[in-house]
Amino acid sequence: MTMSDFIPVNEPLLDGNEKKYLMQCIDTGWISSEGPFIKEFEETFAARMGRKHGIAVCNGTAALDVAVEALEIGPGDEVILPTFTIISCVLQIARSGAIPVLVDADPLTWNMDVTQIEARVTPRTKAIMVVHIYGLPVHMDPVLDIAKRYDLKIIEDAAEVIGQTYRGKPCGSFGEISTVSFYPNKHVTTGEGGMILTDDDELAERSRSLRNLCFQPKRRFVHEQLGWNLRMTNLQAALGLAQLERLDEFIGKKRWIGCRYNELLTGLAGVQLPSPATDYAENIYWVYGLVLNESLRFDAQELMAHLAKLGVGCRPFFYPLHQQPVLREMGFFKGEQYPVAERIGERGFYLPSGLALTEKQIDQVALACRDLIAY
Ligand SMILES: Cc1ncc(COP(=O)(O)O)c(C=O)c1O
Repeated sequence: MTMSDFIPVNEPLLDGNEKKYLMQCIDTGWISSEGPFIKEFEETFAARMGRKHGIAVCNGTAALDVAVEALEIGPGDEVILPTFTIISCVLQIARSGAIPVLVDADPLTWNMDVTQIEARVTPRTKAIMVVHIYGLPVHMDPVLDIAKRYDLKIIEDAAEVIGQTYRGKPCGSFGEISTVSFYPNKHVTTGEGGMILTDDDELAERSRSLRNLCFQPKRRFVHEQLGWNLRMTNLQAALGLAQLERLDEFIGKKRWIGCRYNELLTGLAGVQLPSPATDYAENIYWVYGLVLNESLRFDAQELMAHLAKLGVGCRPFFYPLHQQPVLREMGFFKGEQYPVAERIGERGFYLPSGLALTEKQIDQVALACRDLIAY
């Protein structure tokens, strides 16, 4: 096997207008966050997501940090979120002195089990953070209902589902503040990048200010609040704009990849495949995940190691927040158990799922899985 035979877990497609727009940055000298692509990317992306404001930042984690701070979540406030998610979701909650309150995952969609949310609401609850995981959206209707009844804010992390909809409405349009990531495995990439989305003028203003060191419009270097420098560059926005032009095509390709894997892997004993659809959305297969039954002779780590030897790059599922050593050391989640998240965190992993994947590669990956698992 040579490096060129290796099938990476992700590879982006950059063969649209990316080079042309990047060259415009170089030719004009606009490479910082002051360049014209930033505004164009923010406006075009926000419009596509059905939002009034888009605030571009340097990554999706930063977008979540700003969202939590912009909502003034702080010491003693509680935020309900899934345990089965990336660490990015909890960072600013924990750093600000607020308390993350978890719910388990749904065993079929791998999203937060929305039936568990209401029991976790207390007088201190300030927000629910929903995170759409791996390609199917969170069941939003019950979440919106709880948020309304208890007067809670919604932070929506739509990093993995750019281009997905819930009952026909764009993911990224449901939160008081929503966020996305433009990391290269996302449906729109800027290398590193993210965006905050909102319809609220004040939240937008606060987010813009937090992103940019809280410089003041009148007296630039006099600061009344602590911000961050989380600005995106014009170079990144140029990439993002070119990518966004192809979003529908990219979602179509992701669906095709997922359906091809479904065809080749359905019926493989002992393996749970992604749910193709729910009654509120069809899967867009941001990644193609597998969960291995206890009956198999491999766990996820072992199978991934065997697949790597056959030239197939994979990634494990998220490790649940309640098991994260750093959070446990901070005193969170004592004695709490979330059996679904624990199981899929241990037994789940995903196959190569990037936009550059070819049919031949998919067939090769599926054959390798079949050979190893059915053996
Ligand atoms: C659900 C989710 N939220 C947030 C992030 C963080 O985004 P970034 O890597 O751009 O910081 C990711 C990252 O991949 C993610 O999957």
